Amino acid sequence: MAIDYSQKIPNNVNLADDRTLQRALEQWQPNFITWWDDVGPENSTNNEVYLRTATSVDPQGWAHFDYVKMRDYRWGIFLNPADAERKIDFGDHKGEKAWQDVPGEHRANLRRIIVTQGDTEPASVEQQRHLGLTAPSLYDLRNLFQVNVEEGRHLWAMVYLLQKFFGRDGREEAAALLERTSGDANNPRILGAFNEKTPDWLAFFMFTYFTDRDGKFQLAALAESAFDPLARTTRFMLTEEAHHMFVGESGVSRVLQRTAQVMNELKTDDPALVRAAGAIDLGTIQRYLNFHYSVTIDLFGADQSSNAATFYSSGLKGRYEEGKRVDDHVLKGQTYKVLEVQNGQLAEKEVPMLNALNEVLRDDFIKDSVAGVGRWNKVLEKAGIATRLVVPHKAFNRKIGALAGIRMSPEGRVVSEEEWKQKEKEWLPSPGDFAFVASLMRAVLEPGKFAAWIAPPAMGINKNPVEFEYVRFG
Ligand SMILES: [Fe+2]
Ligand SMILES: [Fe+2]
Repeated sequence: MAIDYSQKIPNNVNLADDRTLQRALEQWQPNFITWWDDVGPENSTNNEVYLRTATSVDPQGWAHFDYVKMRDYRWGIFLNPADAERKIDFGDHKGEKAWQDVPGEHRANLRRIIVTQGDTEPASVEQQRHLGLTAPSLYDLRNLFQVNVEEGRHLWAMVYLLQKFFGRDGREEAAALLERTSGDANNPRILGAFNEKTPDWLAFFMFTYFTDRDGKFQLAALAESAFDPLARTTRFMLTEEAHHMFVGESGVSRVLQRTAQVMNELKTDDPALVRAAGAIDLGTIQRYLNFHYSVTIDLFGADQSSNAATFYSSGLKGRYEEGKRVDDHVLKGQTYKVLEVQNGQLAEKEVPMLNALNEVLRDDFIKDSVAGVGRWNKVLEKAGIATRLVVPHKAFNRKIGALAGIRMSPEGRVVSEEEWKQKEKEWLPSPGDFAFVASLMRAVLEPGKFAAWIAPPAMGINKNPVEFEYVRFG
């Protein structure tokens, strides 16, 4: 399924035959470019970036790499190929044909789901907008920009659904996606983690590892949707999400590699000495991990939610890898264990599984996250360093759901407010940590050179050498 690049808006949905949609998108497009110029990557207008552009939506369609100025990136509408026979795999409509249009009774919920997903896409671009000024290498700068343009395209994907299927409401929602701004006091982004700052590259790598992985799980659940255009759109977005998580996982790995090297050279695990040598001490990395992990697991929502049950039973949002599960895919009468606070302590409680589907998705996410942290620990192990990174307890630093009402240490001990205040600096990044990491952030723009706090990658992009000129400055 090739994408038609001869059109003003590249697409594989026959946009030329849909005048109403074309008009709506063409009206929205200049506002998108203005948004990109205003709050997209700072000071990047003249950069020529070695970017990957999707030219088709089949698995080989990713091969197109070339220098592009980002505002000329071929944003557009790309859906996975349709399967005319596709059936709904779960919920009350299981076995019926997938919907090509929005059923009236599910219109409000579907719109809300699409707007909530769509809102995260421009938000992350805004959060990351200053990072290009302090990139540790051209290789990393290019990866940041690749993530940014793809999040821009994810916004297009959600705007397409809103404008094509939700009429005037959809057009208003599409406009509002460019009006909210990450961290804005008056008109913030919808979800908490997307209003946090991404102040430095360690935060960026943690964000792309954890928060883009939330994206993966949300998109995977929506890729099961009975509303077929949503399923096909999100299925294609997942191919891009994989690269974002790669940037995070390999980024943190390289930071660890460099830290371990410095620790071995100096034969020390004293954070002050590691810092003095220009590397990031393991304690700081652990605290960043604690923060990004806890903020990200809040994104899955309340552990018990009647909305989650409705979304599933009505076929709007499935589970991660619905097709691989061996239950009845209806889930009525089934239960799931969630945690709740009883007399200041955590206790397990069995609740109807349908109501616990946010928790089910969060637990799937946790399993996936932990696996990558294990791969980070291999870097330390290989270097002969005894320290290991660990993901904090699920109830640590939560702001949403039943666990928000408790203070928990990273290892899972209920603590008093007083102890929390005392230990917070050991558990979450302190102003001092941020200031130290910020002091390391300086742009390194010579091809093949890397900042002293991060190791070079094992290989370059698209079989190019690591010292390739991934960004040219105009
Ligand atoms: Fe995205
Ligand atoms: Fe992403």
